Amino acid sequence: MALRKILTEENDILRKTSKKVVNFDENLWELLDDMKETLLHSTGVGLSAVQVGVLKRVFVINLNNQYFEVINPKIVKREGKQKGQEGCLSVPNRFEDISRPKTVTIEFVDRFNFPMTVKATDFMARAFCHESDHLDGILFTDYLKK
Ligand code: CO
Repeated sequence: MALRKILTEENDILRKTSKKVVNFDENLWELLDDMKETLLHSTGVGLSAVQVGVLKRVFVINLNNQYFEVINPKIVKREGKQKGQEGCLSVPNRFEDISRPKTVTIEFVDRFNFPMTVKATDFMARAFCHESDHLDGILFTDYLKK
C-alpha cells in the first residue's frame, strides 16, 4: 500500500468523467488499497479515484465505523431533502451548506464485482452523493453557482 497525492480543484482532471470499471484485477485492488490508506491518513470521510488522478468510477467512504469500497455506483432512488455543511479534500479549507437528498439508495459492485445495495441517510447519504458527483466531474462548490 502507498499514500497517493490528493489533487486539488485547479487540476483539470477533476472535471473529467470517470470510466466504468471493467477489469476487477490486481490493478484495481492496489488502487483501492492505496485509496484506503490515503483516506484514513486524511481528515476526509470520502475519496474518489479521480482525486488521486485515476479516471475510474471508484470511491471509498469511511464514516460511522463503516468502510465502503464503491465501484460503478448508481443512485437509484433519492428521497427527501437535507441541508448541511460539506467539504472536500480537493477544495481545502472550504465548507459550505449544500442541499442533498435526505436518503439515497445506491447500487454498486465491490472489488470482486459482487453486486451491493446500500440505503444511506443523513450524512452518509451526503457522502455517497458527493463522491458520486466526483465521478462525473462535479465539485460541491458547483451547487453554489446555481
Ligand atoms: Co470531494
